[in-house]
Amino acid sequence: MSGLISIVLDEPTDYDAWRSRVRELIQDGIAPEQVSFGSAGCSGDLFGAAAPSAGARRALRRSSEVRVPRNFPKLARQVLCHRDAGRHALLYRLLWRVQASPRLLENEADGDVHAAKRLAQAVRRDVHKMKAFVRFRRVETEEGEAFVAWFEPEHSIVKLAATFFAERFAGMRWSIVTPACSVHWDGQALAFDSGARRQDCPDDDALEAHWRVYYSSIFNPARLKVNAMRAEMPKKYWKNLPESRLIPELTRSAERAQRAAPAGSSPSAASARRLVAAQPQQTVAVEGRPDSLAAVRAAVSQCARCDLCHFATTAVPGVGPADAPIMVVGEQPGDQEDLAGRPFIGPAGQELDAALLAAGIDREQTYLTNAVKHFKFVPRGKRRIHQRPTFGEVDHCRWWLDLEREIVAPRMTVALGATAARAVLGRTVSVTAERGRVMGDARTGGIVVTTHPAYLLRLPEREAVEQRRRFVADLRLAQEVAEA
Ligand code: URA
Repeated sequence: MSGLISIVLDEPTDYDAWRSRVRELIQDGIAPEQVSFGSAGCSGDLFGAAAPSAGARRALRRSSEVRVPRNFPKLARQVLCHRDAGRHALLYRLLWRVQASPRLLENEADGDVHAAKRLAQAVRRDVHKMKAFVRFRRVETEEGEAFVAWFEPEHSIVKLAATFFAERFAGMRWSIVTPACSVHWDGQALAFDSGARRQDCPDDDALEAHWRVYYSSIFNPARLKVNAMRAEMPKKYWKNLPESRLIPELTRSAERAQRAAPAGSSPSAASARRLVAAQPQQTVAVEGRPDSLAAVRAAVSQCARCDLCHFATTAVPGVGPADAPIMVVGEQPGDQEDLAGRPFIGPAGQELDAALLAAGIDREQTYLTNAVKHFKFVPRGKRRIHQRPTFGEVDHCRWWLDLEREIVAPRMTVALGATAARAVLGRTVSVTAERGRVMGDARTGGIVVTTHPAYLLRLPEREAVEQRRRFVADLRLAQEVAEA
């Protein structure tokens, strides 16, 4: 094939690398039929080192400007991750044609546009599956705890998906290993490496039970559509999922329940809960009564006093010195706290930090904890939506808060919001009615009830200004009494 220009890409999935190679081709007017693409390491029949022909060099040197429509880079980044061997040529053809037809990408009926969008869609779908089906296993390393997951994507999507995991699991050290590429997160930065084999990854540990219980509890027979489920969770992924062993039984139980249900009714979420109850639960006995904050922390991390532990990533114990003059009690950890295992580090925590500063309270010298130690949420798409804990859950978890209060014995306790107030006082009170005054006294432990900082985040700005002022005033009151 004389005159064919061979482009060998060292990083065939990398958009910037591809773009820098094709930019000159476009500028030199090299038509798509004159170019062939291959990756380093591919055998060279198609890609023998052919020099550009004089004819090609003379062709169409129209402008040094390469036109790149705004939606092209995103599309190209996805297409490049597809395993289709013709993807580089397809993208080059598109970029070439875009020079004469700037709105080409909007023409869905065009064969090249359609093909590129189809590849991009397959890649997005693969990324979605990776986000849904990666399951980490805990391992002990010299640097401490780390998490490893094995995954087999269809396309080269590890780099595309990696930032999602870095944000979602920011507080853990983890690696995701695939046959072609591995990605590692050390809490600071992502690093990419070569792939590995399935047998190089850990296989089994307590997290498996956690996932099984979680899956069976979110499994709702009323919504069971087996074909849709198979499409969403294709069988090839099942072997790597701890919960996969439950799928046949849950499916059969749902079908039985469907048959047994009176005409017109459907199996309810309650029957899903009964299925959950039938699964072995992971309970850990806490021996003795912890008598130091370190012992409380260790015991809280094993807590299975209620069902919330099966869904949260980890328990979030309180933090702060054992002789803190002030204890601040929130409702429950939020999404970020759940991932990091530390209270008040997310948006509500930042609001609290600003108010503590304004009230003259040193966060480092304050004990921060929550009424409920596990994050309660419902999954909605990619998000986990906060759910207020029930009175039952609050009352169960008081065991921990009471211990913390006994050990720290703060001069003042600040309860943030109604849930914390119930946990601290043991009864339901109105925050509006109780705020702005001290209950009890600092000698035996006074209490101030105030609003929750998350409430301030939801207010329109004008109202938030006044509510922030009152929030800071409540904190300052606690500080003054603690200092007196
Ligand atoms: N909200 C709380 O009540 N506690 C936290 O730790 C974070 C958000």
